[in-house]
Amino acid sequence: MLLLIFLLEAVAGVIAYVYQEQVRSELTLSMNGTFNSYYYFDQGRTDAIDKLQRKYKCCGALDFEDWRYSRWLKENPDVKNKVPDSCCITETPFCGVRDHPSNIHDDSCIGALEKQIKDHLNILGAVGLGFCLVQVFGMIFSCCLYISIRDYIRPKKHYNYER
Ligand SMILES: *[C@@H]1O[C@H](CO)[C@@H](O)[C@H](O)[C@H]1NC(C)=O
Repeated sequence: MLLLIFLLEAVAGVIAYVYQEQVRSELTLSMNGTFNSYYYFDQGRTDAIDKLQRKYKCCGALDFEDWRYSRWLKENPDVKNKVPDSCCITETPFCGVRDHPSNIHDDSCIGALEKQIKDHLNILGAVGLGFCLVQVFGMIFSCCLYISIRDYIRPKKHYNYER
């Protein structure tokens, strides 16, 4: 059992580190499309994007200029905003008309999330591998305990008194 748990922890720990390499490409793939195609058109996703931009103080999936090419602005030429109001450092209605970095957050949302996820994966990896190390001692001490008490549990059958 100890060995099995040890292996599971080792695998989880190593995967947490290895997976970090993939975080950016997976985030880009899923978030770029969502920002570009669903903002304004899907209420749930629009709210999620606004919350994300406020919470992480970021604007746009990769860059705030991404918003220029979004379906939201392409299909609504009467909208004067260059970015959503949730990009603004101080949010007021139509504050997103001006997309100067003094007015809006200029960090990428993918970059901000990537950092957050990597920090968590680092903790997961460290905890997993840390517990592994402790269990190595657990296994060594189990073996020592077994060796020292095995004669009491299972006495040798044909004991040779001559030797
Ligand atoms: C993000 O999406 C836009 C529009 O769909 C596309 O033109 C652009 O190449 C994408 N960028 C990346 C890095 O995938």
